[in-house]
Amino acid sequence: MAGNVILILGGTREAIEIACDLEQIENTTVITSLAGVTRSPRLPTGKVRFGGFGGKDGLFDYLVQEKITLVIDATHPFAEKITKNASEASERANIPFLHFSRKPWKETAQDKWYEVKNSKAAASTLTQKDFECAKNVFLTIGRKDVNCFYSINTKQFFVRSIEPVKELACFDNMKWIQGRGPFTFQDEYTFFKEHSIDCLVAKNSGGYSSYPKINAARVLGIPVVLVQQPKSINLKKIYDREALTAFVLHDLSR
Ligand SMILES: NC(=O)c1ccc[n+]([C@@H]2O[C@H](COP(=O)([O-])OP(=O)(O)OC[C@H]3O[C@@H](n4cnc5c(N)ncnc54)[C@H](OP(=O)(O)O)[C@@H]3O)[C@@H](O)[C@H]2O)c1
Repeated sequence: MAGNVILILGGTREAIEIACDLEQIENTTVITSLAGVTRSPRLPTGKVRFGGFGGKDGLFDYLVQEKITLVIDATHPFAEKITKNASEASERANIPFLHFSRKPWKETAQDKWYEVKNSKAAASTLTQKDFECAKNVFLTIGRKDVNCFYSINTKQFFVRSIEPVKELACFDNMKWIQGRGPFTFQDEYTFFKEHSIDCLVAKNSGGYSSYPKINAARVLGIPVVLVQQPKSINLKKIYDREALTAFVLHDLSR
């Protein structure tokens, strides 16, 4: 491969859009990397690779082997490990690294948010007095953290994901619902009504693609237990696609 070779770490809608933007740059190859956790993911334009790299050392080797000239991390704001690995491996390989992220959502006067640090704290919040009356909880914190809620048997949980969460079958009060976003406000509103949802547990993912559920909760006056974005990674973030393209053009011209 000659010219610029950009590696985008993906797994988000924004990563697909970024690949599309950067494909337009002359003399540039764009490779998007996906973790490979979803069986038939939405694919971006350009080249795509799947699966982990084998930690930061594996990623370093990949950057060198593929002669990557720029790394863009456009993974989900809660995907901490890959972001940390990518920033360290890029630094070691002396390759510019750009971190694209989503601005966290902000509470409005109409919202009833309980902001918490992590999924464990979200589960503990649900056991407090304020949530005694909440019976049907829409749990949208991702498959990895669902186990934090297994010990709560006084509520019915609804978990929606693309891939099945097999472990849920062991619990009478955990219902898995197949679903692939993006979901519109109408989709979410209907979902809340259909399942008599009276509490939402979500990550503050930011961006527009998963915001409709927050809107639906607001309109229905439903409390939201919201996990804050991790603060462990202190990297400069770029929130805007046009600004990102400008940074890319600047880096590639050096
Ligand atoms: N966390 C969320 O809430 C969330 C939500 C929506 C989408 N996603 C997407 O799902 C993927 C996995 O998320 P996670 O929270 O499990 O990540 P993570 O905890 O940061 O990463 C776990 C491991 O998965 C591999 N990995 C993650 N993203 C990768 C990528 N884009 N390309 C190649 N390998 C990748 C890496 O394996 P090695 O160490 O072997 O390289 C990494 O160490 C991410 O790409 C993310 O953008 C995550």
